[in-house]
Amino acid sequence: MRIALAGFGVVGQALAKSIADGRARLRTEYGLDPRLVAVRDSRSLASATGGLDAEALIQTKKTTNAVGSPLRPGFDPISWAQTVAADVYIDTSPTDLRNPRPATAGLLAALGSGKHAITVNKAPLAVAMPALLENARYNGRMIRFSGTVGAGTPVLATATTIARGDTITGVEAILNGTTNYILWLMATSGATFDSALAEAQRLGYAETDPGNDVDGFDTAMKLVILANHAMGLATSVDRVSITGIRAVSPDEIAAASAAGEAVKLIGSITASGALSVAPRRVPAASALNVPRNLNAVRFTLASGGEPTLVGRGAGGPETATAIVRDLIEIHTAGLARGSTC
Ligand SMILES: NC(=O)c1ccc[n+]([C@@H]2O[C@H](COP(=O)([O-])OP(=O)(O)OC[C@H]3O[C@@H](n4cnc5c(N)ncnc54)[C@H](OP(=O)(O)O)[C@@H]3O)[C@@H](O)[C@H]2O)c1
Repeated sequence: MRIALAGFGVVGQALAKSIADGRARLRTEYGLDPRLVAVRDSRSLASATGGLDAEALIQTKKTTNAVGSPLRPGFDPISWAQTVAADVYIDTSPTDLRNPRPATAGLLAALGSGKHAITVNKAPLAVAMPALLENARYNGRMIRFSGTVGAGTPVLATATTIARGDTITGVEAILNGTTNYILWLMATSGATFDSALAEAQRLGYAETDPGNDVDGFDTAMKLVILANHAMGLATSVDRVSITGIRAVSPDEIAAASAAGEAVKLIGSITASGALSVAPRRVPAASALNVPRNLNAVRFTLASGGEPTLVGRGAGGPETATAIVRDLIEIHTAGLARGSTC
């Protein structure tokens, strides 16, 4: 299976390592032989039809801050996604909700040229998931995105499994570890929002520009992906009511605590298909009251109760395992169709 990879940061490098380390197991257990044949970052490109060496790529990136040769002037990432000779195109480039078009166009170009696609970049799905799914179907290709929600915690796979024998009628979820850490620290130490955010940044949980997390957009994007995938809602991020956590005060958190409750940033999908992200109180004993930077997803089922999945929602190696799961799924589906990819 020839792989073209766009993005070689935390997740891209973890994926290269995971493929290299897991090579023998992937071959023995699944007959899968993934080869990185083209890898690019924002300014450079490496390619080799026989496959690139992961360790060498990571070392080159570390020492030169480039994965390969500089992109030639006029390089067009969309036509690259279309013409690169590969079976699967993987997008691990930054999520940019303000400008999702280039990444979306890259995925469409890859699908249109007969490649399967995997993305951990949430923005294309947040704005155009129904169109991307339809495009994949039209082209007879697969698009997979396991790592976009929950990173390595199999939120979407769990939703698929439980929806087989039941109906998911609602979801309440903590989908952003950074905001959960900030609210948890405020509750356990009495910290203000600003000092808890500074601590989250010091620990590397929050970006220098934390807006995507604390203003609720990251949760909203994941909620949209979950709503499309788990409940068949053809929806997008502009339909989500979003309130972040900047205005949550230590007094509010203390009042919740005195009442036996905790304030959490909850993404919710109702049975009628309404999507919202907002700080809400949950009982301290609730399965959603998870500490530190954990994620939690509670599904409401028509007959099967309210199963809750808890796990880490970020991390390079964790997200890479989700991409490997997607690769195995694409390979296995291909075998079932008689293809050798
Ligand atoms: N990290 C996580 O825990 C996690 C979990 C789930 C999902 N994700 C998603 O995975 C993606 C990657 O995250 P990350 O943590 O690996 O980010 P990162 O460390 O910032 O790496 C991003 C990589 O993409 C490259 N890049 C920038 N613009 C590009 C473009 N237009 N085309 C192709 N490559 C481009 C960057 O190039 P340079 O190296 O040249 O700057 C860098 O190599 C994001 O969409 C993120 O939301 C991350």
